[in-house]
Amino acid sequence: MLDDSEIIKERVSEPEISSPDLIHTYYVDPEEKFQKIEIRREMAFKRYYVIEPLISNYEKEIIDWIKEVLEYSDDAVPIYVIRDPELRKEYIINFAKKLLKRKRVPPKRWDVIIYYITRDLVGYGKIDALMNDKFIEDISCSGLNVPIYVWHRDHGYIPTNIVFNDKNELESLVYKLAVRAKKMISVANPSVDGILPDGSRVVCNLGVVSLKGPTFTIRKYTAEPMTIIDLINEGTVTPELAAYLWMLMEHKKSIIVCGEVGAGKTTLSNAILGFIRKTAKIITVEETPEIRLDGYENWTQKVTRESIREEVRSIDLFELVKTALRERPDYIIVGEVRGKEAYVLFQAIALGHGGLTTLHADNIDSAIKRLTSRPLEIPMYLIALTSAFVEVSKFIDEAGRIKRRVTNVKEIEGIEEDRLILRDIFRYKADEDKIEMVNDSLELRKIATELGIPYDKLMGEFQRRQSFLVLLTNLEGVSWSQLSNLIENYYIDPEEAFSMVRREGGL
Ligand SMILES: Nc1ncnc2c1ncn2[C@@H]1O[C@H](COP(=O)(O)OP(=O)(O)O)[C@@H](O)[C@H]1O
Ligand SMILES: [Mg+2]
Repeated sequence: MLDDSEIIKERVSEPEISSPDLIHTYYVDPEEKFQKIEIRREMAFKRYYVIEPLISNYEKEIIDWIKEVLEYSDDAVPIYVIRDPELRKEYIINFAKKLLKRKRVPPKRWDVIIYYITRDLVGYGKIDALMNDKFIEDISCSGLNVPIYVWHRDHGYIPTNIVFNDKNELESLVYKLAVRAKKMISVANPSVDGILPDGSRVVCNLGVVSLKGPTFTIRKYTAEPMTIIDLINEGTVTPELAAYLWMLMEHKKSIIVCGEVGAGKTTLSNAILGFIRKTAKIITVEETPEIRLDGYENWTQKVTRESIREEVRSIDLFELVKTALRERPDYIIVGEVRGKEAYVLFQAIALGHGGLTTLHADNIDSAIKRLTSRPLEIPMYLIALTSAFVEVSKFIDEAGRIKRRVTNVKEIEGIEEDRLILRDIFRYKADEDKIEMVNDSLELRKIATELGIPYDKLMGEFQRRQSFLVLLTNLEGVSWSQLSNLIENYYIDPEEAFSMVRREGGL
């Protein structure tokens, strides 16, 4: 039997900081019992704590022994043979119970012991809680003896209380991640990149050359991409700005979203893409498949292939954009431009395809500088075909939370002596936390001309779309694909779409 003196702090340390420093707490396991998260302020920064049940040394030995039996012994069916995770879990639980009975472990401790066994054999071991936490977007481990960092939706990049001190333990997690991503990792091929069963992207490295040991990064698959309505509710865009982007998308204009890493470029792009009509032919080209257009049947997703073997050819963005162009898409979307593929994208825009891409640059001016200088070197006259540059930024507010705002939208008035003349259309006023339309849009005027309708009439439509978006903010829990359906309804019959949303929202 156990006595309290035997209880050790295994794997996790209870934070020893007084409660005023506790910022946020919640459970991430389905039973809300075993994986408690606490976010605490520590000196100048925050730390993310995973708090799991305490166990004694003896219990730890039992756990390791049962795991070993399940994994290697002839007494048990090798668990990796059971493909279905639910069945595997059930088998493990039943098997573990038999062993626990045999060892006379008090039944009131069984659920904790079984928790650790399933966490390690079915879940992701020490990082299982991080995988379960929906607020976490990225998990990165830069080696031994340094805390794992996570990217938290509300708190940004923060260290956790999880540290690997044992090389074997970290290495076996890296092997496990590679296996689950169906990749071979070995000393000869120490670095792999793949997709986990839940759709998360993982990059792992055995660290044969790195002094800090094995490393991994997981970019988690978020079940539902954010919608433009989510972004309006977050304050990232206003209904007016969203309606503007909607008009541009509908009329196959080209948009470049720029901002720093993690500013929300991809998220904003994915949200804007929901404005496209359901029947349009869309081709996305990416290095990492991030863009998701659920419900678009005429969507082709192209992803680059990097090969480290001679007999397998690598396929890069440039090549994919080039072939995409031959397929005559209505829209060509490049996840992020970095190299010579940018040139092909601009050619596509020149040919009248709708285009959308993101570009890593702090602001619009430096985005243009990047486009014009090496290695991209896009000629000025091609850049001038861009309909709008959208700049998105992230800030930390007073409460220490991250907020994201579109801080600038510019159109191009013309070229003067090798210089682009830009026109501010939207501007963010930080002191009032407001995004304002500061000038008439040249692009909207162009659209009116193309449609052969008076500008005022187009402005009426612009207004009506704003009202529609405002109305949509009343609906709760609308998924990305549901929203794009509502937008499609609007295209088909705007008045009917209004009444439908009013009915749904009980308004
Ligand atoms: N407007 C937003 N509000 C809340 N979270 C956001 C917003 N935009 C992005 N995020 C989150 O921030 C992280 C980084 O966003 P992402 O769009 O991938 O950035 P970027 O493409 O600029 O690197 C993602 O995990 C995403 O879910
Ligand atoms: Mg991105």
